[in-house]
Amino acid sequence: MDAEQTRSLYHPVTIGSLTIEGNLFLAPLAGYTDRAFRSVCLERGASFTYTEMVSAEGLARGSENTEKLMSRAEREELLGVQIFMNDASVAIRALPRLLQHDPSIIDINCGCPVPKVVKTGSGSALMKEPQKVQEMVRALKEYTDIPVSIKIRTGWDKNSITFKEVADAALSAGVDMITMHARTRQEGYSGTAQWSALTELSHFVHNRNPRVAVFGSGDLFSPLAAKEMLKTTSVDGVMFARGAIGNPFIFEDTRQVLTGGKAAEHDLAVRMKVMLKQLHRMGTDSSQELACREMRKHATSYLKGIPHGSRAKQELVQATSYAEYEQVCTRLIEGDL
Ligand SMILES: Cc1cc2nc3c(=O)[nH]c(=O)nc-3n(C[C@H](O)[C@H](O)[C@H](O)COP(=O)(O)O)c2cc1C
Repeated sequence: MDAEQTRSLYHPVTIGSLTIEGNLFLAPLAGYTDRAFRSVCLERGASFTYTEMVSAEGLARGSENTEKLMSRAEREELLGVQIFMNDASVAIRALPRLLQHDPSIIDINCGCPVPKVVKTGSGSALMKEPQKVQEMVRALKEYTDIPVSIKIRTGWDKNSITFKEVADAALSAGVDMITMHARTRQEGYSGTAQWSALTELSHFVHNRNPRVAVFGSGDLFSPLAAKEMLKTTSVDGVMFARGAIGNPFIFEDTRQVLTGGKAAEHDLAVRMKVMLKQLHRMGTDSSQELACREMRKHATSYLKGIPHGSRAKQELVQATSYAEYEQVCTRLIEGDL
């Protein structure tokens, strides 16, 4: 592939009335994509980010905890809000509260595999109900001018691969963007994502409506993986998920790689500085102790593959204050662990 072609893999995307500068998004991740994590990803080159999945029913009922999931970081102008529900009527009831948060995109979750969610007919249960997806998209499009997207899986299981039916239903209701995690519900997060299904989806959607953006998700753990997905599947953009946890640098590295450069080395001191920044920001939403506890799952990922990282992990699991976190990071950087 020549340099010209490589360069064009990073580009702006238009989603309904919204144009976003780049095509490297942070996926919705329940329990992870709070405003602290989103803000470090944005600072490190993410083009756009999403909240974690937000219950439309919770919003409709006025749950404060549900609303907190949509609070913005400082200077976070654009934000995608992902909602989950089992019926268009719930989306309509949730809208007044949702609109108060001025979402830049409203995304409908059609992929969550968790039994508690699926049992109610939400999440990946919708892969068996294209009609319902159509009604949800139509309702949101009717009541707002905000771009509407869906995030789907390939299907329920290998005997029920329904992504084209669901995409078709959403297209006929005026959806502006479709993201697919290229696994079935049955596969959960295991095995290898079927990127060939992304190629099928992007051709299917672009043939019908070239203005609808198609994004790919699944097994994006490195800049080269993102480059490969963009090159081979014709998707308009990629969504990093597990690959961004503990590695917000993946966005700037990927942009470098897509524009013909080389990913930078981020030394340990920089990695720890970003981790501590995220921790401090988390603390503004709770207490120092809670933030330290919540940060553990991120810290484990920041420390993955780092010499003596497992010793640091053991110590951070006990840490309950910023000072303790900082001390462990300093000792790790100075080779004193
Ligand atoms: C811990 C975790 C939480 C997730 N939460 C959500 C969510 O709230 N909404 C959603 O659409 N997908 C969610 N996903 C799916 C991811 O957005 C993504 O599609 C999936 O992890 C595949 O990408 P990956 O293989 O690169 O991680 C979640 C995945 C993980 C691992």
